[in-house]
Amino acid sequence: MVSKEELRARLETIIDPTCNKTLKETGGLKHVGIDDEVGRAVLVIALEKKDNDEVKQFKINLTKLIKLDLGFSGLKLEIEELNPKEKGTVLDKEKQIRYIGIASGKGGVGKSTVAANIAVTLAKLGHKVGIIDADIYGPSIPNVMGIEVKLPKGTKDEKVLPYAKYNVEVISTAFFVEDNAPLMWRGPMLNRMLSHFFYDVKWNDKIEFIIVDLPPGTGDVALDIQALIPQCEMIVVTTPHPTASNIAVKAGYGAKKLNHEIIGVIENMSYFINPVNGQKENIFGTGGGEEVASKLGVPLLGQLPIGQPKSGHQSIYSLEEPIGHEYLKIVNQLIKK
Ligand SMILES: Nc1ncnc2c1ncn2[C@@H]1O[C@H](COP(=O)(O)OP(=O)(O)OP(=O)(O)O)[C@@H](O)[C@H]1O
Ligand SMILES: [Mg+2]
Repeated sequence: MVSKEELRARLETIIDPTCNKTLKETGGLKHVGIDDEVGRAVLVIALEKKDNDEVKQFKINLTKLIKLDLGFSGLKLEIEELNPKEKGTVLDKEKQIRYIGIASGKGGVGKSTVAANIAVTLAKLGHKVGIIDADIYGPSIPNVMGIEVKLPKGTKDEKVLPYAKYNVEVISTAFFVEDNAPLMWRGPMLNRMLSHFFYDVKWNDKIEFIIVDLPPGTGDVALDIQALIPQCEMIVVTTPHPTASNIAVKAGYGAKKLNHEIIGVIENMSYFINPVNGQKENIFGTGGGEEVASKLGVPLLGQLPIGQPKSGHQSIYSLEEPIGHEYLKIVNQLIKK
C-alpha cells in the first residue's frame, strides 16, 4: 500500500472528466485519507459537474486505480460538486469558510485560550463562528469555555451536531473520549475522527469562520493534523521568551511547508499591568513575538497582557478589559484580510 503523500500525488494527476482538467488544477481533491485498520482509501473529491454521465465511469476508473493498481482493500468515496463561483480556483461552498488554525511550538503558551477568545470576539461582532478543538494531547476548549463534556448528538444524515456557547459552535476531541481518558488515538482512528470534524459537522448554515485549536509541537502529529485542514490560514502563538519564540518559528516553517498561509503572530502573556502603579511589567521577557513575526515575514497581530485570574476554569475575557481590547484589535485585522 502506498503512503498518503504518494496517494495524494497520484490522485492529483487524475483528470476531472467533466471539465478535462486535473484534480490538482481544479483543486477538487478535498480529502485524502487512509484507514490503515482495514486498508481502505478515504477520499472526498469535488468535480466540476456532479450529475454527469461521465461521473459513473470516473468512479469505476478510480476504484480500479485504488484497488488494483495501488493495492487498497477498499475505497470510501464521496463526490461533491465544485462551487460555480469558484470553479477552477477554490472548491465547494464549504471552502468559503475561513479555517484559521492556531498553532504553537511549545505547549502551555495560551493557544487554546487565544483560540476561544478569538472565536468569541468574532461572534460578538456578529460573525458566525465555530471551533474545532483538534488538540488531541489535551483538548481544553470545553474547559476554557465552560462547556460540559458529553457525546454530541447526530443528525439523520449522519452529521455531528456541535455544542454552542457564547454564540460559538464547538466540536472537541474531548467529546468523544469516555471519562476524560487520556487520548491514545492511533493513526487511522485519529484520522477518521478529524476527517469527521472537517467534513461531517452540521455547523450553522451561515458559518463564516472555523477556528482550529491545533496540538502544540513541530512534529508529525501536529503536521498531520494541519495537513487535514482544508485551505487553512494559520496564526502562530508564542510568549515573549526566546525559547518559546524559537520553537514557534519552527512551527511556522512547518505550516509554510504545507502551503498554509500564515496570517500573523500573537504574543501572549506579554506583560503584566501592575495594579499598584499601572506600569507594564515584562515578567516573561520581551521580543519573542516580534522575532517570530519577522522571521516568518508576517505581522505581529497583537500582544496580549497577562489577564486577571477568572472564577472557575473559564478564561473568556470581556471587551471592556485591556486584554479584551487587544483581542478586538486582533480580530479586526483577521476580518479585514
Ligand atoms: N494572557 C493570559 N493571562 C493569564 N493567563 C493566561 C493567559 N493566556 C493563557 N493563560 C493561562 O495559561 C494556561 C495555559 O493556557 P492554554 O491552556 O490556553 O494554553 P495552551 O497553549 O493551549 O496549552 P496546551 O499546550 O496545554 O494546550 C491556562 O491556565 C490559561 O488560563
Ligand atoms: Mg490547549
